[in-house]
Amino acid sequence: MKELKVQPIKDGTVIDHITPGNALKVLKILGIKEGANSVISIAMNVAGKRGRKDIVKIENRELDSKEVDKIALIAPDATINIIRDYEVVEKHRVSIPDEIVGIVRCPNPNCITNSREPIKSKFVVVSRKPLKIRCYYCGREPDMEKIESMIE
Ligand code: CTP
Ligand code: ZN
Repeated sequence: MKELKVQPIKDGTVIDHITPGNALKVLKILGIKEGANSVISIAMNVAGKRGRKDIVKIENRELDSKEVDKIALIAPDATINIIRDYEVVEKHRVSIPDEIVGIVRCPNPNCITNSREPIKSKFVVVSRKPLKIRCYYCGREPDMEKIESMIE
């Protein structure tokens, strides 16, 4: 039987194969907050073909691939499906951008990005597999096991 946990949508974006437990962080990264007026459905810990996953569906909004690449940090296996008139018309895998700006808070308390200066955090990608990033300002390389707690 096909997955029936969350209804198909007519138009919009489905972010599928999100690492289980990370759906709310995905919404946070996309800047979707309380009071947003899009229709959003979230499924967590759904059984997929390759194990459990979370799913986020955003109706009537097509996210572009740049926008969703940020998601790769916390959901490296996610797929972005663009839906038009109930059909999947595009499917992309997320990929890690070369620079990660304004998403990860630097774990170094003395970093200039944690001071009162209005400077956005910025990390350079040092390696992709496994993912390693380095603060552009102070050189700190965060522990990637804890990356979720550093998402701004
Ligand atoms: N989906 C949806 N509304 C639609 C069409 C698809 O919500 N009108 C959802 C599906 O439930 C699925 C995702 O969009 O979570 C991708 O759909 P599809 O490509 O049909 O599923 P799969 O073939 O299982 O995708 P994959 O191979 O990426 O796992
Ligand atoms: Zn820093």
